[in-house]
Amino acid sequence: MANLWSGRFEKEMDSIVEEFNASINFDKRLYDCDINGSIAHVTMLSEQGIVTEDEKIKIIETLKQIKVEIDNGEIEFSVKDEDIHMAIEGILIKRLGDTGKRLHTARSRNDQVAVDTRLYVKKEILNIVENLKYMEEVLLEKADKYHDQIMIGFTHMQHAQPVTIGFHLMAYFQMFKRDIERFKDAYERTDYCPLGACALAGTTVPINRHRTAELLGFKNVTENAMDSVSDRDYVLEVESAASICMMHISRFAEEFVYWNSQEFSYISIDDSFCTGSSIMPQKKNPDMAELLRGKVGRVYGNLVQLLTVMKGTPLAYNKDFQEDKEGLFDTIDTLKKSLIIFAKMIEKTEFLMDNISKQLNKGFLNATDIAEHFVKMNIPFREAHELVGKMVKYCEVNNMDFVDLNDRDLNKIDEKLSKSLLPEDLSMEGCAKGRVSYGGTAPIEVLRQINVGKSWLHQQ
Ligand code: ARG
Repeated sequence: MANLWSGRFEKEMDSIVEEFNASINFDKRLYDCDINGSIAHVTMLSEQGIVTEDEKIKIIETLKQIKVEIDNGEIEFSVKDEDIHMAIEGILIKRLGDTGKRLHTARSRNDQVAVDTRLYVKKEILNIVENLKYMEEVLLEKADKYHDQIMIGFTHMQHAQPVTIGFHLMAYFQMFKRDIERFKDAYERTDYCPLGACALAGTTVPINRHRTAELLGFKNVTENAMDSVSDRDYVLEVESAASICMMHISRFAEEFVYWNSQEFSYISIDDSFCTGSSIMPQKKNPDMAELLRGKVGRVYGNLVQLLTVMKGTPLAYNKDFQEDKEGLFDTIDTLKKSLIIFAKMIEKTEFLMDNISKQLNKGFLNATDIAEHFVKMNIPFREAHELVGKMVKYCEVNNMDFVDLNDRDLNKIDEKLSKSLLPEDLSMEGCAKGRVSYGGTAPIEVLRQINVGKSWLHQQ
């Protein structure tokens, strides 16, 4: 069959050009959005008296039938169809003849592809948010379980201060919370219907764009036809939000990789998320954590690819924009799967407290607590810092810990120092417990953070 646009052409397309031009192989996944868009469009056309009631009914029935057949895999697409919009319209016309030819009144593929993509992005943002909410629930539960269990808090990958495991997990809760907010915010700007913008300049046909928007569940219509067909910000926004979210996933995944290493042994990732080695029989590799860490690459890539495609494109529609979809689909698929797999992996992970506790006495994690204790005894902080620094040095040289220091040692370090000046409780639990400042690591404060997190999550 000749292309639907072939009226002014004399020659057929070269087959390699046909293939290069076609997007059907990937945009076929928009078929339900395309059909919903067409049903709303023809409903509006009939309400406006542009097509008859009878024509509308025939078109809608046939479109619904085509949807069922695509759902069941009964329709085979070919590059000859070019894209999903032409493919569906082509089948419609084949089945309905002249009536089918009325559907494309006051519409262009330029606004059609824009409305399809917006509908798709809206639906997928909601799916992503659902997956993020699942992740948040898992984190809240784990954080609650480990709200008073102590581990090492690092800065520069050096032992810094004792923190609670629940506190560490709640840091990720906050990252994913912002991700949810970012996706919801992107949804707001996606929620404008471009249909009726036509090729670039609107139409002389008396359409009602607000009605089409309402039928499709958009909160409003886009304001300028030229912008409507050439805007891809909504794809870029979802890819940006996805890139930030994948960055969070990859940071967390990296922690899983090293926590799972022989050197750390803080966790042992469940067998169902690991693989073996083809040569080393003893190996159990954290492949899922590594893949989660690595998948961020393609998601960034897709964002940069589309930013680059859009750069410098003049108004209005350009075929370049067809390059928006493969990256978008890949990003959405990757993010949704990553969130589910990671949440399930976290759910199945327990911390090996015996191993973690053994590490706690290395690195003078309670040094800051001693300095803060000195501050409470009216020593200026800079001086307190200096004194504890000297204590650390002395302990390191003499292979001792703070608790081993007696009055003679302390006096040698600095004549101001004595055992009575040191805090009574130098335990890691004691230190963590004391950090009750808002947002701090104390178990009681972590429980507060969990409660705030829970009530926020329930409102989402
Ligand atoms: N397949 C095209 C895309 O994804 C649809 C729009 C084509 N419009 C056109 N005038 N060639 O962008």
